[in-house]
Amino acid sequence: MEKKRGAFSNKLGFVLAAAGSAVGLGNLWRFPYLAAKYGGGIFILIYLILAVTLGFTLMITEIALGRNTRLSAVGAFKKLDKRFGFVGYLACAVPFIITPYYCVIGGWVIKYLITFISGNVTAAAGDEYFTGFITEPVQPVVWFAVFVLLTSLVVIIGVEKGIEKASCILMPILVILTIGIAVFCITRPGALEGVKYYLLPDLNHFSPTTVLAAMGQLFYSMSLAMGIMITYGSYMKKDVSLEKSVRQIEIFDTAIAFFAGLMIVPSVFVFSGGNEEALSKGPSLMFITLPKVFDSMKLGGFIGAVFFILVLFAALTSAISLMETNVSILDDKLKWGRKKTTIIVTVYVLIVGAIVSLGFGVLDFIQIIGMGLLDFFDFLSNSVLMPIVAILTCISIGYFIKPQVIYDEIETNGPFKMKKFYTVMLKWIAPICLVLILAFAISEAMGWIKV
Ligand code: PHE
Repeated sequence: MEKKRGAFSNKLGFVLAAAGSAVGLGNLWRFPYLAAKYGGGIFILIYLILAVTLGFTLMITEIALGRNTRLSAVGAFKKLDKRFGFVGYLACAVPFIITPYYCVIGGWVIKYLITFISGNVTAAAGDEYFTGFITEPVQPVVWFAVFVLLTSLVVIIGVEKGIEKASCILMPILVILTIGIAVFCITRPGALEGVKYYLLPDLNHFSPTTVLAAMGQLFYSMSLAMGIMITYGSYMKKDVSLEKSVRQIEIFDTAIAFFAGLMIVPSVFVFSGGNEEALSKGPSLMFITLPKVFDSMKLGGFIGAVFFILVLFAALTSAISLMETNVSILDDKLKWGRKKTTIIVTVYVLIVGAIVSLGFGVLDFIQIIGMGLLDFFDFLSNSVLMPIVAILTCISIGYFIKPQVIYDEIETNGPFKMKKFYTVMLKWIAPICLVLILAFAISEAMGWIKV
């Protein structure tokens, strides 16, 4: 098996592949709605602090772990210390939880793409359009299934490489378009309030929930604490600088999220009034706000259609990487062959995702600890499981396996500049903060504390 392990051909190849997995709906859909909901500037500030501390530490650990062992999560932990194989298993559970609901949002993107292509921009900009759509029993499930089947098809016929090549061209276009739309939005009358809300940290908006939301988002957006970066690391060549690559991925991923927010948050002020209700729309925010922006533009229908095609591509590359991860975890264990395993994973995703999708309509009576199904799955993976995986990663590497493995791996390409900082983060700051955040998340969800 190991001999056949492929490797990324060049430095940029690794960064681009990791970025293709990292950049997706997390940046374009999830980041803006969280930033809007959790206080704007203060959320951005906390996110940035977490990205350069916690994000840096975890990402470099995971990639080094993969490159050192040449194995994916379960094998990597087992190889270094038998007792910690279970961390790998826990990490593997995360993509199984995320994939179904990720594809539900993917389905929404297809629906909006079709809406724009068929010229229904003004209808889409109406206040009830989105709610009307997601509460229907059939349509959202159909678009969701289309998205899942597209993803599976790519995984089965194995044309990921082609898709990734295409996304190398399409992603930069998406970035430029996002920046262009952001500029259009922030120059509308009334946008200034929104820009201030988005950029200026206001301590009055701070709450522990802001930290929790920012951390969950960091994990989600950078594909951390779910074994994915370990797998990517296992394909990485020894002559690529780990420290530099991690920086590049972080900057790229954060910049895209930042501009997506700049396009959406000020628009909420322009088109929906910047009141709390408009800002706390949650998962629906992008789909409610953007059509209003496009409707107010000349050529908005066309620009909107192009925009949603690009979003769809970004979502697909991420979904493919999620689906791949599920398939390779199961296939490594059960050895059913890729095709059969992909079909089984697809059926699983279709069933669970359909239930999640219907959670907005006919199944909306299903509430788990006060959350609808999509929010619950999102909470379970991002606020509970990922912090647990991250804590265990820090502790197992920091105290049992010992950080020397990571230093050695990083130092194969020159000095590890942030070594001291990394060590303190890994052994002390990260685990302590993560435990606090996790305790808070659980207490809040269970209603033990009120914020
Ligand atoms: N990071 C991706 C995003 O921001 C989501 C993702 C998570 C993709 C895990 C692959 C694996 O959309």
